[in-house]
Amino acid sequence: MIVKESKELIIRIGGEGGEGIISAGEFITQAAVRSGLHVLTFKTFPAEIKGGYAMYQLRVSNDPLTSQGDNFDVMVAFNGEAYEMNKSLLREGTVFVYDGPGGDFEPDNLPGVYMYPVPMTKISKGDLGSIRAKNMVALGAVAQLFSIPMEQLRETIQHKFRKRGADVVEMNLKALDMGAFYVQNELKKTDPYSLHTNGAGIEDVLILSGNEAVAAAALAAGCRYYAAYPITPATEIANWLARYLPKVNGVLLQEEDEIASIASAIGASYAGVKAMTATSGPGLSLMTELLGLAGMTEIPLVVVDVQRAGPSTGMPTKHEQSDLFLAAHGGHGDIPRIVLAPGSVEDCFYLIIKAFNLAEKYQVPVLFLSDTSLGIRTQGIKKPNLKGIQLVNRLTLSENGDGNGGKPFQRYEITESGVSPMSIPGQVGGAYIATGLEHDESSAPIYSQAGHSRMTEKRFRKLARLEEDDFPSVSREGDDPADLGIISWGSTHGSVQEALARLRSAGYKVAALYPHLLFPVPAIAIERFAERVPSKRILVPEVNYQGQFADLISAHTSVKPIKHTIYGGLPFNPEMIVNKVKEVLQK
Ligand code: COA
Repeated sequence: MIVKESKELIIRIGGEGGEGIISAGEFITQAAVRSGLHVLTFKTFPAEIKGGYAMYQLRVSNDPLTSQGDNFDVMVAFNGEAYEMNKSLLREGTVFVYDGPGGDFEPDNLPGVYMYPVPMTKISKGDLGSIRAKNMVALGAVAQLFSIPMEQLRETIQHKFRKRGADVVEMNLKALDMGAFYVQNELKKTDPYSLHTNGAGIEDVLILSGNEAVAAAALAAGCRYYAAYPITPATEIANWLARYLPKVNGVLLQEEDEIASIASAIGASYAGVKAMTATSGPGLSLMTELLGLAGMTEIPLVVVDVQRAGPSTGMPTKHEQSDLFLAAHGGHGDIPRIVLAPGSVEDCFYLIIKAFNLAEKYQVPVLFLSDTSLGIRTQGIKKPNLKGIQLVNRLTLSENGDGNGGKPFQRYEITESGVSPMSIPGQVGGAYIATGLEHDESSAPIYSQAGHSRMTEKRFRKLARLEEDDFPSVSREGDDPADLGIISWGSTHGSVQEALARLRSAGYKVAALYPHLLFPVPAIAIERFAERVPSKRILVPEVNYQGQFADLISAHTSVKPIKHTIYGGLPFNPEMIVNKVKEVLQK
């Protein structure tokens, strides 16, 4: 258990990129999860490889977590910049651990703040002869102050640095001990925070980032071809798949750009292999021409977009949910497509499997809108039961080439569902041209008005019953009826969930809807949800300027949402949602 009123602790570590802030945070995360605690992390770092402000925040609790929380309880500052960035948040009752004496700043007198100076630079550079170990000195100090199990930290350090040699491991372990030793001998603990664990890890828990969950579940979904061009914050998906895809005889290709990436993924899928590409905003912009090809040729494809702050190069390491219009409407012509968004790390796992299943079922491109906050967040999720996962495979021409009841194979045969059988190149009787030109049932190019109309209708008919058949129920929680409803998408989900709980325990009658399907807009679920909010006050919080999902809802349903948008590169925290709901309800 955690000794503190709310049974949870939020620790923020800040310093310069390159100082090992992220590693220090990850080590505490691993130790906490292995000790039986729930953890949810949040990090933000600069676009530079070295330099600039890097921050890692972890929220640790006895209970499951859905968001990064509001303000921190403990701030660990490696340098003056981290101090300046967080000074205003160092309120009465918070803890400040900082590099001093001997660091590059002296903090002001902060009334009510528990201050712990730890000479991180002096110990690492002076006593250990390596500034590299500064983060481990800090880690040792934090572990000693808040009872983070040293044994778990030692194991994690050994595991992480083992490939770099015994001397690196030894130096880091020594630094850890020296940080702890310093606190034990030189400081007196005065704050009330402490992690008390029973030492037993949470059973059946996997610690994954959203990106890792997407990669792992893509394998479980049967993906055997992945092509991408590196881009922050999506690259981790490729890093993970590069390790594991070859083990299941899959192929990973790093292409020269995003256009080649999506083109080769379409090619692999045309050849009968489940294929995926992943990128971030600017990469998706480049892919839109080929998205049309996948739509026109009816080739199943999964495209992951880990959204970041745009437009253009924007703020590559910062959070935003602003690619929805692009995902829903990007490209020329009428492109049938499905747009999905996960709301948690667990969703990243299960929803990407659904993305593959839908791509196969309907032979359309499926866009999977993750985001920076979710992609790089680390969270423990319940170990998935892989045996319980149901996979869908595309409708194919039978092996003897006689899939049409004796008729010659027609790749684009007009059917009631809009879906027609695909052949594998080289299959007897299965020859066809997968062309971007408009084509007839046999795949031969056509230019007639009637033909284009017929084929366009066929392609869109596939999605006519998508919501009813594949998303019959949408996750909803809260009061029924409610005075105010919230419709949330993407990683904002977690903050909304927490805000809802706080509002309801304060007596507000509120409800929330969490659609995974964003486009085609799930109009049935949204109308049904709005019916149970007699005031028609429907709030849509999202991290973009225009209120993109709110606009799609306005365009496709009778609901006229109240927009709640932020666009500073950071995600919502629960307090922001709580405050906005109260403001709307007071009007
Ligand atoms: N001993 C030895 N090595 C250590 C160490 C220690 N005590 N502490 C950290 N390191 C290593 C880490 O293992 C890591 O090496 P790796 O990258 O080979 O794994 C490296 O030092 C950096 O440490 P880390 O803790 O991961 O990060 P950091 O907090 O220092 O921040 C980043 C650095 C992550 C912000 C920065 O490197 C980065 O990647 N920025 C983003 C760049 C980007 O994506 N730009 C956008 C381009 S469009």
